[in-house]
Amino acid sequence: MSNATFQGHEILYTRQQIAERVAQMGAQITQDLNGEKLVMVGVLKGAAPFLADLARAVEVDATFDFVAVSSYGKGQRSSGAVKLIKDLDEPIEGKNVLIVEDILDTGLTLAYLRKIFLQHHPKTLRIAALLDKPSRRVEKIDADYVGFSIPNLFVIGYGMDYAERYRNLPDICLMAPDQPA
Ligand code: IMP
Ligand code: MG
Repeated sequence: MSNATFQGHEILYTRQQIAERVAQMGAQITQDLNGEKLVMVGVLKGAAPFLADLARAVEVDATFDFVAVSSYGKGQRSSGAVKLIKDLDEPIEGKNVLIVEDILDTGLTLAYLRKIFLQHHPKTLRIAALLDKPSRRVEKIDADYVGFSIPNLFVIGYGMDYAERYRNLPDICLMAPDQPA
């Protein structure tokens, strides 16, 4: 049995499957906001495509902000340390904030962001993660909105990288083990 591939990478979720799930997440977020405004905070760089699509799937008065945290490094292993490289541009006090992240993996990144954002006293703070790898969790944290829950696989595409490559693949793919560097 051969599965569908894109540029040699096995596809885990097609662009159509992603679009359908993001539309459902947007509808749920719209409903939960009950007509209130939203600040969508994307975690650079991986969440950029997801934020762009999710933002167009929510029917709310929304603004964007972006943060960047110390990266995963160049390979597939996390260093464990999380550091804020780019802070919020606008205050979030009293606002409905949605952190938009590509993958919830060990949870170190989102636990750190949640902690520092809560110090700014938002009205609400929720998390949307396109992918969740619950088996990898180190910090106790859950997303309020999860696109797909997956086992411990390394994925690329739709914003997600391996050593900064493959972010522009339109589907979510499995990293082929024998790719040239
Ligand atoms: P955490 O702090 O361990 O939860 O890691 C979150 C970040 O690790 C994500 O935002 C991704 O940038 C990166 N990451 C985790 N798993 C993958 C993967 O399978 N592919 C690409 N990046 C990943
Ligand atoms: Mg990321």
